[in-house]
Amino acid sequence: MRQPTASGERLQKVLARAGFGSRRACELLIDGGRVAVNSERVTLGSRVEASDRITVDGVPVITDTNLVYYLLHKPVGVVTTVSDPQGRRTVMDFVGDRPRVFPVGRLDYDTSGLLLLTNDGELANVLTHPRHGVFKTYVAEVEGDPSPAAIRALRNGIDLDDGITAPARCRVLGRRDSHSIIEIEIHEGRNRQVRRMCEAIGHPVVQLSRSRIAELRDAMLPVGAIRALEAQEVRALYAAGLREPKSSESNR
Ligand code: URA
Repeated sequence: MRQPTASGERLQKVLARAGFGSRRACELLIDGGRVAVNSERVTLGSRVEASDRITVDGVPVITDTNLVYYLLHKPVGVVTTVSDPQGRRTVMDFVGDRPRVFPVGRLDYDTSGLLLLTNDGELANVLTHPRHGVFKTYVAEVEGDPSPAAIRALRNGIDLDDGITAPARCRVLGRRDSHSIIEIEIHEGRNRQVRRMCEAIGHPVVQLSRSRIAELRDAMLPVGAIRALEAQEVRALYAAGLREPKSSESNR
C-alpha cells in the first residue's frame, strides 16, 4: 500500500478531471481499492505528481493532455500511411491541423471502416500486439454462398502462406444477389488477412469494411469523417487490450 504524500494534487481531483465522475464518485473508487499509483494501491488522501502512473482497475488513467485519440471512418481509395511516395490520398489528409498522430494498425487501400489515430504509443502497442488479442470486426461482402463447413474453417483457422490463422469469430449476416455478407472478427493483424482467408475458402471478398475495434464502434460516423474519442472510449480500448483472450472467447 502506497503511503500518502504531502505534495502534488489530490488524487480524486485528478480522477474527476480524467472523466471518472464527481470528486465524491472518485473518492469511492479510491476507497474501494480500485485505484493504484505506480502499481501500489492507494488510500483516500493520496496526492499525485504529473509523472505518477495512475490506474483504475488496472487500466491506465490518461492525465497527459498532449495525448490525443481520433476515430476516422476511412474511405476506400486512401492509404494508411503518413505519406505516400505515389502521391495517393493518405489517412493523414483527414487529420487536418489536429495534433500530430499516427494510424494504429492498417486498413488496405481498398478497405473502408474504422481506424484509430493517436500519439499514444502505449495504446497503439496494446491494440496491435497479438498477445493482447484485441478483436477487430470486419464486414465482408464475398462472392457466392459459403457453406457451414467454409464458415467453420474460417473460425478454426486457415492455412495461409504465412501460417495458420488464429481462431476467429465468424457468422453469415445475409445474402445480396449472388453475394453473401459475413462478419468476421480476428485479433491478428496480418497483411490482407481477411481477404486471404476468404479467398482460401473459395469466396473472394468484393467489399470489406471494419466495423469495430474491440468494443469501439460508430455506425453514425460518416465515411471520411473523423472525431475525437471520449475518455471512456479510450479506457475501454485499454481495458480490452490489457485483458488476455479467454479460451471460451476464441470461437463461437
Ligand atoms: N484484412 C484485410 O484483408 N484487409 C484489411 O484492410 C484489414 C484486414
